[in-house]
Amino acid sequence: MTHDTSTHAVVPGKFVTFEGIDGAGKSTHVNAFVEALRDRLAPLGRQVVGTREPGGTPLGEKLRALVLEAPMDLETEALLMFAGRREHLARVIEPALQRGDWVVSDRFTDATFAYQGGGRGLSLDKLTTLERWVQGTRQPDLTVLFDLAPEVAARRLAGARAPDKFERESIDFFTRVRNEYLRRAAEMPGRFVVIDAEQTVEAIAAQLAGVLAALELPRA
Ligand code: TYD
Repeated sequence: MTHDTSTHAVVPGKFVTFEGIDGAGKSTHVNAFVEALRDRLAPLGRQVVGTREPGGTPLGEKLRALVLEAPMDLETEALLMFAGRREHLARVIEPALQRGDWVVSDRFTDATFAYQGGGRGLSLDKLTTLERWVQGTRQPDLTVLFDLAPEVAARRLAGARAPDKFERESIDFFTRVRNEYLRRAAEMPGRFVVIDAEQTVEAIAAQLAGVLAALELPRA
């Protein structure tokens, strides 16, 4: 007997985010993760959209250039992060998930809680209000947090390239950012996987392969 699946609603895709302080090494791994996920999902007819924040849309990339360089009021900074996020959700993330594709974003709202909230001290209540406004109930299904001591991250970043506004911040700032990330991970253990980013690149890649293998994939 054959089943006609053409009338069935598409099973929505999943939303994965990568987070961590600057210099934790997530950029090295996020692209490899996207490629490995593509290899697993392609036979099931699903695409993987690799994207990033701030950014992810033409307008979002313009906002990124602004927020990473221009000095601005803290509340302006948070509002611009969420303005770019709204555009990203409306034009890229939600349409992809509705098509049944998967989305992997290099940073999302946890970064705003960690940097503008933990790092700069903006009220978490205000951020929660903006989060609800912009996202409704949308949350990542999985968040991979690269955790590293800020002193080690700073040594890795030193001399790598011209630092942006955030990368020029102090060890104290990154300690607060890290602590807020860890607080959120402890609060939402079902969503977060915390990676010890002091391990070798190979060890982290192996751990991420395990994360990938454990993902619940849709049926073909
Ligand atoms: P990052 O993602 O590290 O990109 P790159 O690897 O090219 O430097 O840089 C983005 C910076 O923006 C990073 O310092 C964290 C910061 N940021 C916030 O402060 N709030 C946010 O909501 C987001 C998404 C990022």
